[in-house]
Amino acid sequence: MLERDTSGEGQRVHVAVLFSDLCDYSSYSELTDPEEVDSLKRSLEELAARVVSKHHGVITQLYGDGILAVFGLPVPAEDDARRAIEAALELHERVRQLIVDDSGFEVRMHSGVHAGLVFARAGDALHGQYEVTGDAVNTASRLASVAARDQVVVSGDAMRGAEAFFVSEPSMELQLKGKRSPVLAYLVRSRSGVQTRFEARMQAGLTPYVGRTRELDSLLRELAEARKGQGRLALLSGAPGIGKTRLLEELRTRAADSGMLVLSGSCDSYGEMPALEPFLQALRQIFGIQRSGSTAEAAAVVENRLAEYELDAHKDVILSLLALRGASSGVVSVPIALATTFRAMGPLIERLCEETAIALLLDDWQWADPLSKQVLLRITRFVAKRPVCIVVGMRESTPIDPRLHATLTLNLEPFSIEESRQVISRLRAHDLDVGLTSALHERSGGNPLYLEELVGSLSEDLRGEQSLARLHIPNTLQGLIQARTARLPADPKRLLQRASVIGLEFSEALLADASDSVPLQSALAQLLEEGLILPVAERNAFRFKHGITREIVYGSVRIAERRRIHHEVANALEQKVAARELMEQSEALAFHFQGSGDHERAATYAEQAGDKAAASSFIDAARRHYEAARLALDQLPLDAAGKRRWLRVVSKWAGQCAYAPSRPQLAVLERAEAIACEIRDDRARAHNSHMLGWLHYVFGNYTESLEHARRAFTLAEKVQDHRLLVQLWTSLGQVYSVSGQYELAREHLDRGIELKRDRAAGTGPRSSRPPTGGPAVLYAHALTCRAMVNADIGDFRLADRDLQEALSIVAGTSHAMEPSVLSHHSIVLARQGHWARCFDAAKHACRLAARLNSDFVFGISSAMASYAQWRVDASSEALTQLRNAVDWLESHQFGLYISFAYGCLAEAFEETAQLELARDYAQRALERVARGDPQGAVAAHRVLARLAARRRDPAEGERQLQAARELARTRNLRRELALTALCSAELAQPAAADSVQTLVQSFTELDMPWYAERAARLARAAQK
Ligand SMILES: Nc1ncnc2c1ncn2[C@@H]1O[C@H](COP(=O)(O)OP(=O)(O)OP(=O)(O)O)[C@@H](O)[C@H]1O
Ligand SMILES: [Mg+2]
Repeated sequence: MLERDTSGEGQRVHVAVLFSDLCDYSSYSELTDPEEVDSLKRSLEELAARVVSKHHGVITQLYGDGILAVFGLPVPAEDDARRAIEAALELHERVRQLIVDDSGFEVRMHSGVHAGLVFARAGDALHGQYEVTGDAVNTASRLASVAARDQVVVSGDAMRGAEAFFVSEPSMELQLKGKRSPVLAYLVRSRSGVQTRFEARMQAGLTPYVGRTRELDSLLRELAEARKGQGRLALLSGAPGIGKTRLLEELRTRAADSGMLVLSGSCDSYGEMPALEPFLQALRQIFGIQRSGSTAEAAAVVENRLAEYELDAHKDVILSLLALRGASSGVVSVPIALATTFRAMGPLIERLCEETAIALLLDDWQWADPLSKQVLLRITRFVAKRPVCIVVGMRESTPIDPRLHATLTLNLEPFSIEESRQVISRLRAHDLDVGLTSALHERSGGNPLYLEELVGSLSEDLRGEQSLARLHIPNTLQGLIQARTARLPADPKRLLQRASVIGLEFSEALLADASDSVPLQSALAQLLEEGLILPVAERNAFRFKHGITREIVYGSVRIAERRRIHHEVANALEQKVAARELMEQSEALAFHFQGSGDHERAATYAEQAGDKAAASSFIDAARRHYEAARLALDQLPLDAAGKRRWLRVVSKWAGQCAYAPSRPQLAVLERAEAIACEIRDDRARAHNSHMLGWLHYVFGNYTESLEHARRAFTLAEKVQDHRLLVQLWTSLGQVYSVSGQYELAREHLDRGIELKRDRAAGTGPRSSRPPTGGPAVLYAHALTCRAMVNADIGDFRLADRDLQEALSIVAGTSHAMEPSVLSHHSIVLARQGHWARCFDAAKHACRLAARLNSDFVFGISSAMASYAQWRVDASSEALTQLRNAVDWLESHQFGLYISFAYGCLAEAFEETAQLELARDYAQRALERVARGDPQGAVAAHRVLARLAARRRDPAEGERQLQAARELARTRNLRRELALTALCSAELAQPAAADSVQTLVQSFTELDMPWYAERAARLARAAQK
């Protein structure tokens, strides 16, 4: 809460801002007497004040002809943005009805709504109730200025999560004055009929249901008991967004399926909820009345139904409860209403129970009105011996009437990481970024709503790490979480802010150091009570329950204050480490020195942290720390020594990028190349070029890759870097291999393997340990590359020998090389047509790659697993998955093996008669040839030949087959030759029996039994 501080310090807070202006004010003033203008202004101000405060906003400023209203001060709420939009609509509506004078001037407004961070301080006579500063205010005002007469323009940020409550035009991108990037905006026309957030989500489509089986089973047992005639009452509580409503929804379907009459009612925090609303909803359901329908018709329905039930005596009460006659609901006095309501509802329930058991599901009970609470108590007593099951959903810490005797009490816990993974994979089915799951799970703390919202705001066009780094916390969550922390009393709130600066996890000792005069124990107890933090007993510490809570609270700490706390924490940590009270703390020190603005020390500690992580093969962590070190160094002026230090850090970082290649890494390495040239550091250049060569290899740019690898080779020879030279033989060999230059590939790989075998055995020239894994791992890599050459050619025996040796080296090491070797193995098995084994190897690779965050390997292995599965079961799901994986690889510009994958996909589409797609992917494979990548070309020509045959174009078919043969022949690819011969035999009708018989033999010799069988089938058919 924004305390009305006399110090005028102010706070950082996320709010929704409404800017409304009167249209044609100047021309009106020009033509009108000033006194009348003043009178109009006053009426408008009064009207605006009423409307804004009705929607829980405050007017922070009045201009000549406009208002600035803020929603979220002094107490932020989860639906601030929705309130701001509602207020704008209502203001416009009321203003339209204003008649000012007889001049014919029509009063209209134009408004803008935006949500975002502002700096708010208590105002004064000059500035109004609050003084609010920030880009969010400017944006709202700019939106208002683009809004035409009587229009409400709402930014995407404000609209997020509130879409379903309103009717709006499709979104548009606006280039607002003074803004660099375009702003997404909506033109909101009116309210929609949607009432609750859950309803809103239902409209957008619910995420498939995950987990909660134990809870659902217990609830189902309650329903079953109720059906036997035992009244049941289950209380379901949990944090906001944890999934209460969703579970009730699941239960609703199940109850309805079992033939029960399901009645649901929910309470609302918004607007003036009529008393008894949840029960009124249930009543409307009993009679099947729509809120929007005609009153007279509804009354008739009710009357008939009551007559049918012989309950005419209660007609008046029920009709008036439903506001269908007489006094409208909610205005009757409580005792009378309670007594009469109950007198009418009791018999109605009783009558309904005679027909079927009832499930009454009441949601959002934390907002229930007092009358509803009393009615619930009465009903539970009344139904004790009747077939009624009442389930009440509410947020945790909702006070419960002690007189309510629940037969079941459930508290929903956050999702496990596995459940989070399921939700994420359902929300981002096409996404294979494997690093996201654990990061999102941590930030969301396993809260499904947080997960959904976070996933929704992940940028589609960015990859995992980058996307996470730029993850913008959606306004819906800002509001929800701020609303929770805003309720805290001052002390725990201050403590929480300090804790947020310390980190996700914070020890009591550090809190004590940094927390001035706050009474620690009681404040901590309150934070635990509120469910904002959790104890970490084994380290005598606490942690934020949700990562984003920390981020949002951190965002609310003033900048100078943040720096001060970071500085204090860093110093306290340094002292504790020096006094040996704490173990080495380089990560935390790097983080806090960075936060305090001490980039020098931040860089030092981040590099140390990187070294530590690298030594334990924590590749991701090492990469992150080195990157942090580089970014810290970027803040410092660099002399020659500084530049050498920068290069050293980048070289260490690059060493950790090998298994998680991404486009932006190229730019850093190119900059390193420029700096290394400038200070004439050939060793650094050699390493940079090597890494650039590797990245271009993974992106499938083989020409560039070769260029860099060759340059690296020359430089490494010049500086006598033997270790790098050993590595470069393999690097060159692998690029020659994928670009189809098999002789050169074999030559380089043989040499690389020989040298590495020596090094792995410790007999080669001595030098420092390679940064990623030991020499044995690199040796395994070289063997794998050679296996690929042999597999391409069709010598699977040799390929297998190398692969088995490579696998025996990496198996069980949990080194990122393990999934890499496995994924290569799966490609080899796919070439051979060993589908079951291919599937197993690819799946195994996927699992390990997911664990180790190697997303490229995960992507290619997913493709192989899906292809193998499709070969086995021909299911359309498998084919869809294959296409998703290939699209994903493509969208992330991973070009390595993509043309092989294109070939697989083209074949699959051709065989399933999806001819356009088959052609498209075959074309893509052929386009890769121009980029030095012939891997999928032969298969692509075969697919085009088959497509031609389908069109009965034998000439074109033969042309494509000829192209396939030629490609295979020039490179002496026995496997491709045999496959092309098979294709040609399948297309020839009838196939020549003896040539097909030879093919059976060729495939058998190649150790491609699945294809041998296919040829044998053809031979049998030819003989008939
Ligand atoms: N078991 C689940 N499987 C898949 N999605 C879920 C599950 N539980 C919840 N969600 C999703 O998470 C979001 C939040 O869930 P829900 O609205 O049920 O939370 P809630 O506990 O009712 O929150 P509130 O206290 O704010 O009402 C919803 O969009 C819902 O679809
Ligand atoms: Mg709910």
